[in-house]
Amino acid sequence: MTTAKLILNDQEYEFPVFEGSEGETAIDFTRLRAQTGAVAYDPGYGNTGSCTSSITFIDGEAGVLRYRGYPIEQLAEKSNFVEVCYLLIYGSLPTEQELAEFVHKLTYHTLIHEDMKKFFEGYPPAAHPMAIMSAMAVSLSAYYAERDDPEVIDLNIIRLLAKFKTIAAFAYKKSIGQPFIYPRNDLDYTADFLHMMFAVPSETYHPSDVLTRALDLLLILHADHEQNCSTSTVRMVGSSRANLFASISAGISALSGPLHGGANQEVINMLEMIQKDDGDYKKYMAMAKDKNSPFRLMGFGHRVYKNFDPRAVILKKAADDVLNELGIHDPLLDIAVNLENIALNDDYFIERKLYPNVDFYSGIIYRAMGIPTDMFTVMFALGRLPGWIAQWKEMRDDPATRISRPRQIYTGATARDYVPMAQR
Ligand code: CMC
Repeated sequence: MTTAKLILNDQEYEFPVFEGSEGETAIDFTRLRAQTGAVAYDPGYGNTGSCTSSITFIDGEAGVLRYRGYPIEQLAEKSNFVEVCYLLIYGSLPTEQELAEFVHKLTYHTLIHEDMKKFFEGYPPAAHPMAIMSAMAVSLSAYYAERDDPEVIDLNIIRLLAKFKTIAAFAYKKSIGQPFIYPRNDLDYTADFLHMMFAVPSETYHPSDVLTRALDLLLILHADHEQNCSTSTVRMVGSSRANLFASISAGISALSGPLHGGANQEVINMLEMIQKDDGDYKKYMAMAKDKNSPFRLMGFGHRVYKNFDPRAVILKKAADDVLNELGIHDPLLDIAVNLENIALNDDYFIERKLYPNVDFYSGIIYRAMGIPTDMFTVMFALGRLPGWIAQWKEMRDDPATRISRPRQIYTGATARDYVPMAQR
């Protein structure tokens, strides 16, 4: 075994080195503090492997993304979201029979407890649906208790996957004051979601093939992304043995932030702002580069991808195709393309390796589907759900899992005596 040597205060220490299946090198620092008394300082964890995982591989320099070894491009072209859910959670592509059983289970667990419908009534109409999603996810644990029994855990996984889209669609219906539309067992996963979103009791609704396929693609592209902020949150919360629903609820909250899943909503807000400002995208490019301005080009940049985000490449083409098929001309797409073109040729963006990420074009497609901006991050959550579940399950089954408990480097006041009020 190779080792890495660390010299601290003239003393030499050795640490084991190991490799992942794609040749990534890791120094095992699990005994760093025990051996040296020092801790590793790595804010934002950009250099820290928090676990080993066999779910998703990313090579950010080469723009590679694979789920369980399968390239995202192949899954996007040949698979569907439900099959990808199975792949991520259970580790292999399902056989015909396995898929049929999985689909059956997902179809027959879509209803939520009728009492949960009352929860929606308590929210103000303008409530952000991500707040509702997070609250509803953890509320499921009040109805479906967890036991340390693989069968119960697996059933709860199915329940969560099946009910999440019902909850998402109900949150939307609540926000526009329309009656909830119940799931339909004759529709597949994605078409059923569109039906619950857009049908009304007074007329029939047929989810269009173009929209169903486009949404399925978006869900596949979002399905997992290894140890990002929300996924690490799910693992961290779950490491305390918190149940699946509670862990996922925490992940939903993490995803809601504008630097993470909330960016897709921010992209559209930004493009609309530019449109209202006479389409002056050059002005916003200048603001994005100005260190005195807090403005960032939303949908640009990524902690891991430093060449291109393969999901953005697929989505840019999909946005074009979907709009063409629907006969829609969206001026925001023109602004987005212009922004991308000048950013890709601008030294500021080139030097910092900033490229469009998955959120840059996804909002354009959601808009074309009639999905309101507030729901964009919910769509991201719907897609990311199987990844969170797979990572939670892997964490639970891994004998190396310990409760997450980072250290800190304390920089506050040193010991001092309490000062009575009259002397302060
Ligand atoms: N616009 C302008 N400048 C940027 C941007 C941007 N979108 N992103 C990064 N930079 C600059 C940043 O100011 C810094 O410059 P300098 O070195 O001069 O200080 C440099 O690039 C490195 O940025 P960073 O913030 O240190 O990079 P990070 O890895 O910590 O952050 C990020 C990654 C995605 C949070 C960031 O690029 C960003 O805020 N992007 C906009 C929000 C966004 O689109 N988020 C969605 C991410 S993809 C979906 C997901 O997985 O959630």
